[in-house]
Amino acid sequence: MLAAAATFLAVVVASSLLSGKKTKLPLPPGSFGLPIIGQTLSYHRALNANAGEDWFRRWITTYGPVSRLSYFNTPTAILAGPSGNKFIFSSASVTAKTTASMARMIGRRTLQDVVGDEHRRVRTLILRFLQPDACKRYVAGMDAEVRRHLDAQWKGRTTVAVMPAMKDLTFDVMCTALFSLERDGGENDAVRQVLSTEFQQLVKGISVVPLNLPFTSFSKCLAASRRGRRALRDHRGEAGKARERAELADRRCAHDTTAALLTFLIRYLDANRDAYEKLVHEQEEIAQCKAPDEALSWEDLSKMRHTWAAAQETLRLIPPVFSILRETTDDIEFAGYRIPKGWQLLQPTSTTHWDPKIFPEPEMFDPARFMDASAVPPFCFIPFGGGPRMCPGNEFGRVETLVAMHYIVTRFRWKLAPSCDGSYARFPLPYPSQGFLIDIQPRHRQQTNA
Ligand code: HEM
Repeated sequence: MLAAAATFLAVVVASSLLSGKKTKLPLPPGSFGLPIIGQTLSYHRALNANAGEDWFRRWITTYGPVSRLSYFNTPTAILAGPSGNKFIFSSASVTAKTTASMARMIGRRTLQDVVGDEHRRVRTLILRFLQPDACKRYVAGMDAEVRRHLDAQWKGRTTVAVMPAMKDLTFDVMCTALFSLERDGGENDAVRQVLSTEFQQLVKGISVVPLNLPFTSFSKCLAASRRGRRALRDHRGEAGKARERAELADRRCAHDTTAALLTFLIRYLDANRDAYEKLVHEQEEIAQCKAPDEALSWEDLSKMRHTWAAAQETLRLIPPVFSILRETTDDIEFAGYRIPKGWQLLQPTSTTHWDPKIFPEPEMFDPARFMDASAVPPFCFIPFGGGPRMCPGNEFGRVETLVAMHYIVTRFRWKLAPSCDGSYARFPLPYPSQGFLIDIQPRHRQQTNA
């Protein structure tokens, strides 16, 4: 422990001395807190208590939009606000950074971990199966998967735990559409099972302390990741291709993020009847032009403007990815401060989302803010990140959300179950208490104008 603290101090002192020779700019204001622990525990405690936004707000009020702290025993600068967002997304001296726990669980082989030319090469590969042209081809498969899912997990029930259901749904959509892992009662199903277990462990392990001792969360995540990789290594054919795609795509974000979006969209619609009615009207108009078993088309999705605006408003209020982590590859200067090479940069996604100067009455769910995309100032709405590392799955996530909401809205009515308080925590993805329980009723076509 002492050694780690000494190393940390050495890095800070050395980077200050070395950088000080080049420029006289001060380090950002702030505090590194206690040795090793720094602000890691207090920040994670705030996330678990769903007080992450307040934590950042207090920190920024105290130290300003550019500040320093210690996160995972590494000197870190917070850059908050539109100019900080712009800088992080466009500076050539900033690169990707994976938490130590993630790096040890999956190695540095996913898109988010590779840098430079390797990043550009892998990203081009991934975009081949995630860009809009590819997503057009997935609509029918997603449509079938959503119907199958609702028949199996919603139909005939009176109560549904939304978050677990949406996680199953988005996982199944990803396996079918993206990985071509059709259910076959054999090898493909086995691969789905292994992937599902591994994904869940990886998500749990995003920001745990990388302490590999018996019974720590990290050792459990590490073991599950090893089991997953061992099991997948032997698969060939379609399953083998699926494995490669899963390896390339970032398994941390790929389906839990969309599951979180769907869950919180359902929650906000329950509490905001105006937005709900607009969405029902829009989806019913589309449904009425279709035969009962006819799948949605790409053109249908382009008519879902209210639905996507409500989804974007949900992403503004509860961005699934709470913060973005980067690392400086050189000494940088920003807003009158010097941030030495090797420091982490921590970017809170929701700071601009909740800024009343950018989004008036930020706590209000108001999808109208997104009906005109040009009304949102640049670098202020960043649920998918930005720049060369912007989420390549954003179109896939959009299509999946629209298809799922079409069937949820046209087939069911819902309200928060009396036993559910609707609260949620972040681990670090937002997860509602009891998975967000809703009472549901089937909805029939003739009820549309009721
Ligand atoms: C609502 C759904 C989603 C949200 C909110 C979301 C959000 C994000 C965010 C914030 C980043 C980091 C961007 C940055 O560092 O600047 C990211 C990266 C990434 N996401 Fe997503 N994501 C979603 C869905 C998906 C889906 C469906 C996939 C794949 C099928 C996916 C794959 C990736 C990959 C591969 C990266 C790493 C990109 C890179 O480093 O170049 N995401 N996502």
